[in-house]
Amino acid sequence: MAKFCKEPSRTFSEYLLIPGYTDENCTPDNVNLRTPLVKFKKGEEPALHLNIPMVSAIMQAVSGEEMACALAREGGVSFIYGSQSIESQAAMVAKVKATKSGFTGSDSNISPEATLKDVIELKKKTGHSTMAVTENGEADGKLVGIVTSRDYRVSRMDLDTKVKEFMTPFDKLIVGKEDITLSEANDLIWDHKLNQLPVVDDKQRLKAFVFRKDYASHKENPNELLDDQKRYIVGAGINTRDYQERVPALVKAGVDVLCIDSSEGYSCWQAKTLQWIRDTYGDRVKVGAGNVVDEEGFRFLAEAGADFIKVGIGGGSICITREQKGIGRGQATATLEVAQARDKYFEETGVYIPICSDGGIVHDYHITLALAFGADFVMLGRYFARFKEAPNNLVSVNGNYMKEYWGEGSARARNWQRYDVGGEGKMSFVEGVDSYVPYAGTLHENVGLTLSKVSHTMCNCGCLTIPDLQKNAKVTLVSSTSIVEGGAHDVVVRDESFDAKPQ
Ligand code: IMP
Repeated sequence: MAKFCKEPSRTFSEYLLIPGYTDENCTPDNVNLRTPLVKFKKGEEPALHLNIPMVSAIMQAVSGEEMACALAREGGVSFIYGSQSIESQAAMVAKVKATKSGFTGSDSNISPEATLKDVIELKKKTGHSTMAVTENGEADGKLVGIVTSRDYRVSRMDLDTKVKEFMTPFDKLIVGKEDITLSEANDLIWDHKLNQLPVVDDKQRLKAFVFRKDYASHKENPNELLDDQKRYIVGAGINTRDYQERVPALVKAGVDVLCIDSSEGYSCWQAKTLQWIRDTYGDRVKVGAGNVVDEEGFRFLAEAGADFIKVGIGGGSICITREQKGIGRGQATATLEVAQARDKYFEETGVYIPICSDGGIVHDYHITLALAFGADFVMLGRYFARFKEAPNNLVSVNGNYMKEYWGEGSARARNWQRYDVGGEGKMSFVEGVDSYVPYAGTLHENVGLTLSKVSHTMCNCGCLTIPDLQKNAKVTLVSSTSIVEGGAHDVVVRDESFDAKPQ
């Protein structure tokens, strides 16, 4: 006879947290959201950690280069989507790794023979007023000067004036050498009262600008997640088909962590992929696996060598796996069972394997609940797809700004490898939809607000750290009628603007 799970399959919306005692030390500014990203032995530190418990989903509509830099700036990690060619995925990773925190590559390059009219047009195109004047007008040319809006006055100058006549020439510039650190660059900016410092290599080619305003923003992001060379940490998705070519290319591009991207991780294909990575790289290359929803799946991937394990089948906002195939499990129940399996494994082996609750986060408080249920961090798709930094299109639908958001198993993404169950047969049905989500602005402002809510709730629960919350949170099931009681009810709401529809 088939095995039946005794517990019903539950979602986060079916639970609430019950407050614990809050002492005077337990304030949001004292909350520490640091959490392990990869496995570690008892008493040791993980090789990689997150400063906030959030990673962005391995999806075309979510995780590109801009998202990766913006999220690392806040302390999280993006996994660049794998449903693209190996070359373009590796190029995205390389681009993130080339974006040193506080150092900005120039997308505005102009020749000394160009005119003021060209300068105005380039400024309109890029939105940037600082331009590198290079011998050939290209990014790889020798730097001969820079142009900023202080160098010209449109009302008083002829539009045909050549750039070389009004630029600040190289010999008048203060420049940094390629190996300069951000704080050394900042010292030069302050000492010489500059707005920007060009950084050049030994052939006088521009490598980056350091802007005064960016240094200030770097100071504002104390959670930035950087490697030992001060480059942003970035992840990438892989599949169980072309890993022998894809993984070396990503490693060469400088990726920090990989994740096998699959809707169902309890399979020989994942074990084979993990084995090949271990045989080829030992423990040097960090790789997560998943997704699983029970103890057996967790054990399997733990023993196969996964560095972290992703939990969740069928809970994603764009996901129709449960309807199409009848497999899956409520996200809260799955997270809880896998977290218990993780703790048992830790007791037995002394190895802690972080788990990631993936998909189905709708309200900010679901993040706190996922952590209370034992997740070490959460993966979000819909949440990040709403932001400016996501690589998806911004469109107007019935007068409202929307971002396009489509599943990896939709006909649009055609990421059939994610649903690979071996054999030669191609997928003949979809497991995801193509949709819109309301545009929500920049990642920085939204993540700040979300984490402020998480920290406040943790204080209500009397917890200052994620391990503390995992151990001490009190959770209660809610009845359907008490859910109605939880929102504004029996009143006519007047002020819609003040978060009346909370995230
Ligand atoms: P969301 O945060 O609820 O939007 O869920 C995002 C998660 O849904 C991803 O991290 C994937 O695990 C999963 N996912 C992405 N695309 C699909 C799909 O087409 N079908 C099913 N699940 C998907």
